[in-house]
Amino acid sequence: PHSGAAAALAALRRPSAHDDHLEVAPRSYRVDPYARPGERYATVRALATGGVAAAEALLAELKEAGLRGMGGAGFPTALKWRTVRDAPGDEKFVVCNADESEPGTFKDRELLASLPHLVWEGMMLGAVVVGARRAIVYLRHEYELERRALAREQEIAARVAAELDVELEIFVSPGGYIMGEETALLEALEDRRGEPRNKPPYPGIAGLFGQPTLINNVETLTMATAIAARGAAWWKAQGVRGCAGLKFVSVSGDVVRPGVYEVATGTTIAELVTLAGGVPGGAAVQAVMPGGASTAFLAADKLETPLDFEHLRRAGSSLGSGAVVVVAEGRDMLELGANVTRFFRNESCGKCVPCRVGTEKAVVLLDEWLAGHAPEDTPELLRQLDRTLGQTSICGLGQVALLPVVSILDRLPPTRPLRRS
Ligand code: NAI
Ligand code: SF4
Repeated sequence: PHSGAAAALAALRRPSAHDDHLEVAPRSYRVDPYARPGERYATVRALATGGVAAAEALLAELKEAGLRGMGGAGFPTALKWRTVRDAPGDEKFVVCNADESEPGTFKDRELLASLPHLVWEGMMLGAVVVGARRAIVYLRHEYELERRALAREQEIAARVAAELDVELEIFVSPGGYIMGEETALLEALEDRRGEPRNKPPYPGIAGLFGQPTLINNVETLTMATAIAARGAAWWKAQGVRGCAGLKFVSVSGDVVRPGVYEVATGTTIAELVTLAGGVPGGAAVQAVMPGGASTAFLAADKLETPLDFEHLRRAGSSLGSGAVVVVAEGRDMLELGANVTRFFRNESCGKCVPCRVGTEKAVVLLDEWLAGHAPEDTPELLRQLDRTLGQTSICGLGQVALLPVVSILDRLPPTRPLRRS
């Protein structure tokens, strides 16, 4: 028999070959255009037989829909697909970035488990449009149950892909937050140490093995399939308050029912909190992080902000990876900011000095503040570090590492004294 701690660890362990019976029950979602399994992959078959005109029509549809990257950065999808299609290369690749690791973000996990057919079809659509012969899912190493769901669907998808002369693969990430950064991911796929490359060139021009590579997030590819099947007009009509489309959001923190919610783009943060059962005990919301750990905290005066790229940008944050972390009144925001900063310090790959040294320096300052013996100019030092890291770090991790903590200083000023007498 297990001791208490050992039993808890056993329950948490990664599913292994001995757990073949384990699987996640798929759920159905509005975004799925197919009522029955037999209807799946009809869209990519039509695309493949339609030649250049069909590919151009799909690009126009994606542009009209205004689809943007759902991994966090929100880059226009049609423009990315166009870039890779037009880029010269001996060979092209499609990579689905399924190495979801942003704290608070677990929506892709649900999509992989419930809608793997839309992910595979999105990858095939991308492959046909850009002219790729290999399409690879780069999967987070802890997502073993999702890998199984993907692999089961791959058996069906591969038959369709063979008709298109496209090979479908699953590559399990070596593990670690930075391995999901798109160029570190390419290094890992090339069997090298997974550290970010300097950008530009962007992977769309010089990606895997130096060739044009279309890298899209799981949700982006899912949505691309839905738009290809139902059209941009349908997509746009799904949004509310003038926003377009559907959005999968991971809701966590101080809510009664944390989980993944499929909502109309434009749903407000307050509505989402209500959907998730509100704050336990009916406490007030103090702050939210609307797009995961790489995004700025918003104070409670922004709860009526609709969830979409533009509204959240204007509110002073970002939709990021669609991970709404709710913080109730009474929580120590400085502790929270220090915790997020520690995460980035721990996950920094160390390749560039500003991030490697700057995140450590910030953690030391914050720990001193929490302990009550910080220098008087700590807030200004943190702001300076934030500016330096933002301007000089190689990749997104260093560029945004201090953004959350600085947003706390600006919007939710800690009452804790820098020095206790
Ligand atoms: P980025 O802005 O450098 O690039 C976004 C995408 O657009 C990339 O695929 C890039 O190759 C492409 N791109 C940008 N400019 C281009 C151009 N001129 N031509 C062609 N393609 C171009 O952002 P990055 O560093 O890729 O992503 C940062 C975001 O990732 C953060 O905002 C954060 O929210 C998110 N993130 C998400 C995580 C997750 O688990 N989902 C984990 C960590 C960060
Ligand atoms: Fe590595 Fe940080 Fe530099 Fe990114 S910014 S390359 S994580 S050290």
